Amino acid sequence: MQKVYSKVTDSFNFFQGKNPIELAEKYGTPLYVYNERVIRQKCREIKKFVKYPKFVVDYSSKANTNIAFLQIVKSEGLEVDAVSPGEILAAKKAGFKPDEIFYISNNVSKDEMQYAIDAGVKISVDSLEQLEQYGQFNPGGEISVRFNPGVGAGHNIKVVTGGKKTKFGVNHEYVPQVKEILKKYNLKLIGINQHIGSLFIDDKAFVKSIGNLFDIARQFDDLTFIDMGGGFGVSYKKEEGQMGIDLEKLGKVMDEELSKFAKEYGKEIIFRIEPGRYVSAEAGVLLGTVHAVKYNGPDKFAGTDIGFNVLQRPVMYDSYHGIEIYRKSDVKSEKKELITVVGNVCESGDMLAKERMLPEIFKGDIIGVLDAGAYGYSMASNYNNRLRPAEVLIRENGDVVLIRERDTLDDLLRHQISL
Ligand code: LLP
Repeated sequence: MQKVYSKVTDSFNFFQGKNPIELAEKYGTPLYVYNERVIRQKCREIKKFVKYPKFVVDYSSKANTNIAFLQIVKSEGLEVDAVSPGEILAAKKAGFKPDEIFYISNNVSKDEMQYAIDAGVKISVDSLEQLEQYGQFNPGGEISVRFNPGVGAGHNIKVVTGGKKTKFGVNHEYVPQVKEILKKYNLKLIGINQHIGSLFIDDKAFVKSIGNLFDIARQFDDLTFIDMGGGFGVSYKKEEGQMGIDLEKLGKVMDEELSKFAKEYGKEIIFRIEPGRYVSAEAGVLLGTVHAVKYNGPDKFAGTDIGFNVLQRPVMYDSYHGIEIYRKSDVKSEKKELITVVGNVCESGDMLAKERMLPEIFKGDIIGVLDAGAYGYSMASNYNNRLRPAEVLIRENGDVVLIRERDTLDDLLRHQISL
């Protein structure tokens, strides 16, 4: 392989000696490739960044729900947060026990709530009406309420989940009403939770939100846990030297705050967090094939098989993902040029990377999209009746195993009923 541009994956030996071109040939593209060693390393980093003894990390499975991925996370001693019956099912299948699953519901139907109650998992509700519904279904039960701490953060307005103008959480002003409903149905509020948004590198808003959440916690006597949510940011611009969140610095602040609150609350209290991206983003690279290179006027395009049905983030949030190029052919070029990397979906917005300065790209090149382990496959779709990709895992010993088959054409017709 003529490695043209693989500085980032080389820097942490992502492919562990495996050749991405051979992976692409063997399994086809588009292909999500995960690295077990990196998943485990990320789990360990996030588990130990706070020293407070009763600190539980729930991996937020929406970032990557593959069962093999969840099994690795489980074996590292993390618990899990789920947001749908499907995620509860996946977590159970991966071996999580009901009390290791925290179901964070949002506007759920009666059936869905009943499913979670029957599954025996911990449940959080995020409106007074849903608390009332829970009370009717499970009087005398234990419940957690998601509060809006009044502060938000995140890489895009679409993923800011705290503060004004978001649908999430119960506003702190409604604490008296929460208490009334708890009393009416003899419910025990065992936890409160929050999530202020996804991908913050600066931790100021997060630290502020913890203080606000503690103010709410002081108004309830029976809490066994306080869940501060996820959102811990990773760097998507490693080539430019951008750093992810400074966990060491945040850990020190949190340890101080958590111990202080625990002392004041006067009971043993568990603190939880729910990172999704931190655990999974850097553990995945998405491989695609360049099928055509062309000009439209002065603009050059590299056409690949990575449409936004495969990776939605660039189109949905204007997200940046680093791109590497792996070349099998003998073509040599020292040139770097501005190029827009696009997919194969019938929409002109189907752009993976806009006007990026990259080494010259040729037909037949394999591209690697970096940091694709979070919200990659989990947001993939069959739009344009395209097949969702396969997923493989590089095990710690270097073996590569298939952990999800590519869709087949028959899958596309499976649930359709012809006239
Ligand atoms: N907890 C709750 C309640 C959440 O809603 C989320 C993410 C998380 C935890 C995990 O957040 P993380 O640590 O992964 O940032 N699709 C978007 C991200 C959406 C996040 C939604 N909620 C993206 O690709 O950037």
